[in-house]
Amino acid sequence: MDLIQRPRRLRGSENLRKMVRETRMDKSSLIYPLFVKEGTGIEEEIPSMEGQFRYSVDRLPFELERLQNAGVNSIMLFGIPDHKDEVGSGAYDPNGIVQKALREAKKQFPDMYYITDVCMCEYTSHGHCGVLCGHDVNNDATLELLAKTAVSHVEAGADMVAPSDMMDGRVRAIREALDANGHYGAPIMSYAVKYASAFYGPFRDAAGSAPSFGDRKSYQMDFHNRREGMKEALTDVEEGADIIMVKPAMSYLDMVSEVSKAVNVPVATYSVSGEYAMVKAAAKMGWIDEERIMCEMAVSAYRAGAQIYLTYYAKELAKCMDEGR
Ligand code: PBG
Ligand code: ZN
Repeated sequence: MDLIQRPRRLRGSENLRKMVRETRMDKSSLIYPLFVKEGTGIEEEIPSMEGQFRYSVDRLPFELERLQNAGVNSIMLFGIPDHKDEVGSGAYDPNGIVQKALREAKKQFPDMYYITDVCMCEYTSHGHCGVLCGHDVNNDATLELLAKTAVSHVEAGADMVAPSDMMDGRVRAIREALDANGHYGAPIMSYAVKYASAFYGPFRDAAGSAPSFGDRKSYQMDFHNRREGMKEALTDVEEGADIIMVKPAMSYLDMVSEVSKAVNVPVATYSVSGEYAMVKAAAKMGWIDEERIMCEMAVSAYRAGAQIYLTYYAKELAKCMDEGR
């Protein structure tokens, strides 16, 4: 046969396949999401997310040590408060759970990079991502509280803040508040392209943050929409976002690809709780190869154009990345 194109020529050996690889991953691009809760001596497994735990502040250092040993140096902190109220005051309390965790963790592990999720839903009695006006979330009244939350996180030691609430104008409000308090150097990673998704189910169990009525569709995006996602990404860059996130990851890689071509900032994508839970469950049944699935999911995110990957598999992935799998 006089075939000119024989793509198989470059697939002949492991050395060659690795040489011509187009996507190379580095564990420095990983961010591990971590839940901290009030109390002491707590390290409780999250039922719908096997292998993931809620830690009290005193137990957090043990996990930070494991992360550091695995070569994972960035975390995204989520707080689980004891007390919730209508206006989510635990979110911006200087003695709130995230603030306390930051101060303690920073002291013991100053070389870690601390990012905080900025939202109200873990702190409000109704579980919505902002303050209510009747049965809807009041956008503009929420902005002030998000800005206060972001400032208090940075003042407690956060290196970067990541608003996940999906209120309009929150990046600008947070940037202005950070700057007004002298925190010019604290970057904002915006959950800009965030869809109203059933993939967040296990997270809401983990954080106890499911809305007590209704859903999040009046602020998170309709998953049928692509152009709207582009608008969110571009708007947040204009408002001063330093990094744009697409969330979830696996079913939204078209958005990762398109956003990464359209913006001039780094793009992150978050492989969320439901993605993790599905893999764990199928692996437990013996139906899939967990490690290989985990690697394929990660590679596909980077191949689509992400520079940063948030995943509950960060420790395990770090090892795979080192081994070039
Ligand atoms: C808070 C927040 C959520 C997630 C990240 N930040 C839940 C939600 O929006 O309902 C989801 C993370 C995951 O599912 O792993 N707004
Ligand atoms: Zn929220």
